[in-house]
Amino acid sequence: MPALVHAEGNPETGKALYKAHCALCHGGQGQGVPPMFPNLTSKPLEAYAAMMQNYRAGMGHKVMVEMAKSLHEQQLEDLLAFIATLPRK
Ligand code: HEC
Repeated sequence: MPALVHAEGNPETGKALYKAHCALCHGGQGQGVPPMFPNLTSKPLEAYAAMMQNYRAGMGHKVMVEMAKSLHEQQLEDLLAFIATLPRK
């Protein structure tokens, strides 16, 4: 699978996807709900891209593996583009 390049994502589409699929656990602004759900604002975007790829390949937390596998690659790009717009910690 080619590396995820967030520059190819659409942050507006990503925002809608995020609200529908991610905000429940990771918070509306990616702030997370410690200690259960990690924030999505403290690591470099490349790290999140790599993590999503690993999840998609079946590695890591089961919840996230299921989540990542249910999304298309373009949707992951869009999500990463949106995550890039979140206020950083
Ligand atoms: C049902 C709850 C739930 C939903 C919904 C969910 N996640 Fe997660 N996510 C988790 C949990 C739990 C972890 C922590 C896994 C671990 O401890 O390894 C996690 C971890 C992550 C991580 C790794 C963060 C880190 O710093 O380790 C990323 C990135 C991530 N999720 C992105 C997303 C995205 C993008 C979506 C929406 C497509 C999403 N998650 C939806 C529960 C969820």
